[in-house]
Amino acid sequence: MTAAEAPHCASGEPDARGGPRVAAGDPILRGDRVVLRPLTDHDAPAILTILAEPGVAAWWRRAEWEQVTEAGATVFAVMVGDAIAGCIQFTEETDPDYHSASIDVFVADAWQDRGVGSDAMRTLIAYLVGGRGHHRLTVDPAAANARAIHVYERLGFRPVGTMHAYERVADATWRDALLMELVIDKRD
Ligand SMILES: CC(C)(COP(=O)(O)OP(=O)(O)OC[C@H]1O[C@@H](n2cnc3c(N)ncnc32)[C@H](O)[C@@H]1OP(=O)(O)O)[C@@H](O)C(=O)NCCC(=O)NCCS
Repeated sequence: MTAAEAPHCASGEPDARGGPRVAAGDPILRGDRVVLRPLTDHDAPAILTILAEPGVAAWWRRAEWEQVTEAGATVFAVMVGDAIAGCIQFTEETDPDYHSASIDVFVADAWQDRGVGSDAMRTLIAYLVGGRGHHRLTVDPAAANARAIHVYERLGFRPVGTMHAYERVADATWRDALLMELVIDKRD
């Protein structure tokens, strides 16, 4: 399994052949504070540790990554210096008549509220719009995830509407999510 094929951000066990595997063509993206580099199988222990942290586990479930395969997801480690501060990924609709991309992100507890998530999002948005020609991006935070919604709104995402009973969470209840979109008018 390559990083690009990873179900969400949990990339499974380290590569048995040894040495990191980086999918050819995946870029390294530089933000103001962060560097987004393709996730490798060797990042799995660090990512799984982050996923177990309370501030992340409240909004992301490890089982999601282990069970749900997002075909074609491109996954990056969010680096601050030498530290893996989180993970960010996108999936694309490649049909030219419906061209768009969706983004998922999480930042480790110790790095939250320090501008890392915003910079990672800004960096990936710039790549998706400038490098991959997207004009429409979406995110779908839990409706109760006020911090994520605040960050996305500040980056220009606008609410489309509530997706009711969208995801099943740890206590087996169904949680609402907010679909948000960022639409760039390419005529500008
Ligand atoms: C959501 C997340 C990606 C944001 O990244 P981050 O690095 O923590 O965010 P930043 O430091 O860039 O910005 C945080 C902003 O949220 C604000 N904020 C913090 N807690 C908040 C809350 N409970 N309600 C509203 N806003 C809040 C901060 O004040 C700051 O806004 P400001 O710069 O306008 O003052 C990160 O916190 C995270 O990964 N959380 C856990 C997992 C998660 O929720 N992932 C997103 C799933 S859609």
